Amino acid sequence: KIQSKMELARTMKDEDKLYRYNGVLYPVIMSPEENLKALKELDARPDDIMLVAYPKCGFNWMVAVLRKVIAAGTGRKTESKIPPLIEFYGPEMIEPLAQAPSPRFLGTHMHPDNIPTSFSVKKTKMLVIFRNPKDTLVSFYHFSNKNPVLPSAESWDSFYSDFMSGEVPWGSYFDHALAWERRIDDPNVMIVTYEELKEDLSDGIRRVAEYFGFSLCDDTIEAIAKESTFSAMKDSSRDSHGQMGNVFFRKGEIGDWKNHFSFAQSEQMDAAFDKHLAGTKLGAQLKY
Ligand code: A3P
Repeated sequence: KIQSKMELARTMKDEDKLYRYNGVLYPVIMSPEENLKALKELDARPDDIMLVAYPKCGFNWMVAVLRKVIAAGTGRKTESKIPPLIEFYGPEMIEPLAQAPSPRFLGTHMHPDNIPTSFSVKKTKMLVIFRNPKDTLVSFYHFSNKNPVLPSAESWDSFYSDFMSGEVPWGSYFDHALAWERRIDDPNVMIVTYEELKEDLSDGIRRVAEYFGFSLCDDTIEAIAKESTFSAMKDSSRDSHGQMGNVFFRKGEIGDWKNHFSFAQSEQMDAAFDKHLAGTKLGAQLKY
């Protein structure tokens, strides 16, 4: 089904690919209005495993890690080619999801205020992966140019401006960051950063597994870490992501922004970062 949506996207004009819902842009092919409305019917469970990420912060990386952690922790495989984004599912998925056994593995790129309230009512544990805004922007720029579902950027400068003003799919990076900063001490929210995972993936996997209540032995954690490096995931990306493999696994590094940002753009981003996140816990976690 995803494949046929991709094919449909290739026939669309760029200007028709995004639409606005409650003030935020979404890709019409993957997250039409009926999907977003259907989210109200989704009943969260306390033992759902919910992964949240602003686009391009390392969602697919964490999906792979979590699938392996869940498989090791429960003995049950959750392998699937379907990305677990709830806004991609649509009304026809509500019933099958209600029947699915626990723990269900779900994900979203939605702003925390737009995640169905049932997740906070049920105290579902959420894992949030964040990434420094400069590399996130660079990754988003390349992704937009390669993913038929999204409009191509007119130029680097125009994409930079759109990102800074939040005129990109799923909205403003800084709006998302500020909303998570407000929830950072919630015991049902854990924030990990792309940069922390790059520095010590095994430690990140251990912390994430413990947070979801799985106690994995060191050998298992090391094995998961080995299978979840950028090169290992890129090598198996044809299996995991089909022809989109190269698009999702592009460079996998910290600091590629230095190859893209002008001096003025870097200064402007630093000022925006300071304005929104200076002195915050999330700001301290997002060093770059
Ligand atoms: P780059 O475009 O900078 O390479 P998302 O999955 O949220 O769309 O994020 C995609 C980004 O995560 C891409 O960044 C991708 O290369 C990177 N990525 C994916 N798997 C990774 C891994 N195992 N290690 C490091 N980075 C990874």
